Amino acid sequence: MAQPTSTPDSPPEVRKQPGVERVYRTEQIAVYWEPQLCIHTAECIKALPEVFNPRRRPWVMIDAAPADAVADAVMRCPTGALRFERLDGAPQEPLPEPPVIEAQPDGPLYIRGHVRIIDEDGSERILPRAAFCRCGESNNKPFCDGMHLRNGFRSR
Ligand code: SF4
Ligand code: FES
Repeated sequence: MAQPTSTPDSPPEVRKQPGVERVYRTEQIAVYWEPQLCIHTAECIKALPEVFNPRRRPWVMIDAAPADAVADAVMRCPTGALRFERLDGAPQEPLPEPPVIEAQPDGPLYIRGHVRIIDEDGSERILPRAAFCRCGESNNKPFCDGMHLRNGFRSR
């Protein structure tokens, strides 16, 4: 995770991470949005619709709920498209050790934990959550891009 930089007189500044398109933040929390990882499960919307609303611009209204509620909703994102960083000293996302891999029926592998991902071009990144393609037809490998829904993938 990027580290916030701040002085006592200025709000925290948060460096962008690779692939991150937007950072939404208050003084308590920064939420990173990486649309390439989103497969539209709507978990974030179901958890906190006052903050996450794709029909609105901006679609993330970061200050519409307390930071703890925002963090709880972000942690329900199975793909890592949403991630957060607490800027107020509150605990960062708790990650299971060892990491957990959970196969979704007719869908991707959900991974939760401190996972270091090394792509075939040698690039590395660490995500707290990720969805890996299991149907073989994602255009964003190793990540799932939702193609399994279109190709009728069956895991059994
Ligand atoms: S929970 Fe994550 S994957 Fe699902 S819609 Fe929200 S951002 Fe996208
Ligand atoms: S499992 Fe989702 S695109 Fe392959």
